[in-house]
Amino acid sequence: MNRKAIALGLLVASACLAGCSGEPVYKDPAADVERRVEDLLGRMTLEEKVMQVTQWSYGKNMNVNNVETEMKAVSPMIGSLLYRSTSPVFYNQIQRKAMEESRLGIPILCGFDVIHGYRTIFPIPLAQACSWNETLAGESCRVAARESRLSGVHWTFSPMVDVARDARWGRVSEGYGEDPYLNGAMGVAAVRGYQGDDLAAGDAVAACLKHFVGYAYSEGGRDYHYTEISAQTLWDTALPPFEMGVKAGAATVMSAFNDISGVPASANRYTMTDILRGKWGFDGFVVSDWDAVKQLIPQGVAADRAEACAKAITAGLDMDMVDDVYRENLAALVENGTVPGQVLDEAVRRILRVKFRMGLFENPYIEELPDSERYLSTEARAAARELAAESMVLLKNERGTLPVGGEVKRIALLGPLADNREDLMGSWWGQGEAGDVVTIREGLEAEFAGKARIEWVKGCDFEGDDRSQFAVARAAARAADLVVLCMGEKRGWSGENASRASLALPAIQQEFVCEMARTGKPVVVLLSSGRPVDVRGFEPEADALVEIWQPGTEGGNAVAQLLSGKVNPSGRLAITFPLCAEQQPVYYNQRQAARPRSGRYQNLPHEPMYPFGYGLSYTTYEYGPVELDRQTVRRGERLTARVEVANSGSADGKETVMWFISDPVASISRPVRELKHFEKQFIPAGESRVFRFEIDPERDLSFPDATGGRLLENGTFYLHVNGQKVKFELIQ
Ligand code: GLC
Repeated sequence: MNRKAIALGLLVASACLAGCSGEPVYKDPAADVERRVEDLLGRMTLEEKVMQVTQWSYGKNMNVNNVETEMKAVSPMIGSLLYRSTSPVFYNQIQRKAMEESRLGIPILCGFDVIHGYRTIFPIPLAQACSWNETLAGESCRVAARESRLSGVHWTFSPMVDVARDARWGRVSEGYGEDPYLNGAMGVAAVRGYQGDDLAAGDAVAACLKHFVGYAYSEGGRDYHYTEISAQTLWDTALPPFEMGVKAGAATVMSAFNDISGVPASANRYTMTDILRGKWGFDGFVVSDWDAVKQLIPQGVAADRAEACAKAITAGLDMDMVDDVYRENLAALVENGTVPGQVLDEAVRRILRVKFRMGLFENPYIEELPDSERYLSTEARAAARELAAESMVLLKNERGTLPVGGEVKRIALLGPLADNREDLMGSWWGQGEAGDVVTIREGLEAEFAGKARIEWVKGCDFEGDDRSQFAVARAAARAADLVVLCMGEKRGWSGENASRASLALPAIQQEFVCEMARTGKPVVVLLSSGRPVDVRGFEPEADALVEIWQPGTEGGNAVAQLLSGKVNPSGRLAITFPLCAEQQPVYYNQRQAARPRSGRYQNLPHEPMYPFGYGLSYTTYEYGPVELDRQTVRRGERLTARVEVANSGSADGKETVMWFISDPVASISRPVRELKHFEKQFIPAGESRVFRFEIDPERDLSFPDATGGRLLENGTFYLHVNGQKVKFELIQ
C-alpha cells in the first residue's frame, strides 16, 4: 500500500478516534458512551488496565473485620478507592492527581459503605423494610446520595438484598428481611433513590447490589461460612431481589464471601456471567467483597494468588477490592496467556462504562462546602425521623398503655439505651457521629415538655452482673406513673461478623425488666436491636412492647412521637420473631411439608413469637371482603383484586395491605404462600380506602425451575389477604 494511502488511513483513523473538537473521542461528552469506552480502552496499556480493575482503601478503617495496610500514596492510575475521608478539599486533591498526572486522565471511582445514611443516619435496612414504605426508604437514599457526593463518594456498597432467615446471622440487620419480594421492592427503592433519574447528576451515587449471591444462607448463621443452596432455592429465593435490582438499573454488584455448595461466589461463573450477564443482561461491573479474591485460597479453590486472580476475573469479577491480587498477578497472566486479554478488556470496559455514565470525566471535582451545608439538613433530619417512626413495630399494647395518656405526669425512663447515642445508629453507621443523635431521653423531654416529667436513671447496663443501680431505678419507677424501659443490643452485636448463638438479651437486662415490673407500674419496653430478639424472658412483664430497631440520628424524636401518639405505629415485621434461636428456621413462606401438622419439635411450640407482617396500631382496621373482577384468568389477561379497608378506630393511621398468592399444586412444590404485592395508605379515622392488586399471570403466577426458566401452569390459585383466602383459576 503506498505511503499516501497509509497517511490517508491514519488521518481517517485519528479523525474517528478524535471527537468533533479534535480531542480524543473519549474526552468528547457529546460522543456515545460506548464509543468513548472503546476509544479509551484502545489507548490503554496493560498496566493502566490492571490499575483500573484495582481498588485500594483510603482513610481510617472503621470495619475491624477487615485488615489492611495503610495506603501511603494514591497512584494517579488507580481505578477506585474505598474512600473514607469526608473532606471535599482532600477529595479534589486526589482526583486532580488522577485527572492531571496520569497519562489518560481517568477519574477515580470512590466507593463507601453508605448503608443507611452517610452523615444523617437512617434506621437500619431491616427497620426500613418494616416501614413497608418504599417512598420513604427511597428518600433516605436520596439524602444519603447527596451527602455522599458532596464528600467525594460516587458509589455506595448498598443496597444489601440478601434474603435472611437466620437471626443468629448478624447481617440480618443490613438487608430487608426474610421475603424475596420485599427485599427486591426495597432494593429497587434504594437503587432508584441512590441513582435518581440521571446517574450523571451531581447528587447521584452508583448503587451496588450485594452480596451476590446466597450470603445469608451461611451455615448456622455463622458469618463468612459456606452455604448449601439448591439450584431451585437459588432461583426461587436468593436471586429474585438481585434480578429486580438489575432490572431497576443498578450500576454495580458485589460478589459475596460465601460459596454455594463448594463454588465460591467470587469465582462463580454461573452466577456472575451466565446469570447476571447472560440471562439478565447486566452491563455494569462486579466488585469483589473485601479480600474475597484472596480468600479463594482458604476456600480451597486456588492454590495461590495467581490462580485466585485467574479464577475470579474469568468468572466475571471485574474489580478487586483491596487485596491487590489483580494488581500483582494480572499483567503476567495476560502476557502468558492464562487470562485472555479480552477478559481483562471486558472488565475494564464495564468499569469505564460506569464512570462515563456517571459523568466523572466531565465533572470529576466537587464544591468545597462546609459541613453545615452538606450534612444533617432540616429536611434530612425530618426524613430520618419520619422513616424511623414508620419502621418501629408495636408488638404488644395492653390496657391501652400506649399512647401515653394525659394522666401520666411522671415517666421513669430507665435502661442502657435511654440516654444512649451511638448504639441507636446501629452497625454501618457510615460517617454518622454520636453527637448528632437525639437520644430517647432528649426526645421524650422535648415531646412531653409541659406534660410529663422525665426521670432518667440508667439502672442497668447492656450486660454483666452489676445490680447496684437497681434500687435507685426501682425508686424512680415507684414514683412514676409510667415506666419506659429502653433495652436491647449494642450496635456491635449485629452487623458483620456478629453472629450470636442465642437471640435472648443478656440475663441482667431481662432481670432488670422483671424487677421494674414488680413495682406494679405500667411498663413499656422499647427494644432496640439489629435482629429479631427472643423476648420470652421479659415480654410477659411488659404492658407494651415496641421494637424500635436501631433508628438512627433522629431515633429519640421518632420514639417520642410514637409514645405520645403524634405518630400512630404502622410498622409491620419484615422478619419473623422466633420464640428462640432453636426454633429456626421459622420464616413464613416455607415449602409445603409432607405432614404439615406433624414433624414439629416435641419440646417447643410450633408458632413463632411474632409472625412476618405482624404489627399493632393505636387504631383498628376492618377489612371488607376481597373481591375479584373474575374467577378465571388467562395468559395475557389481568385479574384485578380489591379490598376496602376501614379505619374503625379513633386515630388516623397508615395501613399496609399485603397480597400473598399460593399455588397448592405445581410441578415443583411451591411455598405455602408468597408475597407478591403490597401497598401502604393513610386512612383517616372513620374513613376507608380501597386497595387493589392487578394480578399478571406471567409475573405473579409463574415460578422458576432450577435453571431459571419460568413455568406457568394452569390450575387453582389462592389469594391471601389479612386472613381471607380467595380462589381463582388460571386457564390456558
Ligand atoms: C465488608 C462487607 C461488605 C462491605 C465491604 C467494604 O467486609 O462484607 O458488605 O461493603 O467489606 O467495606
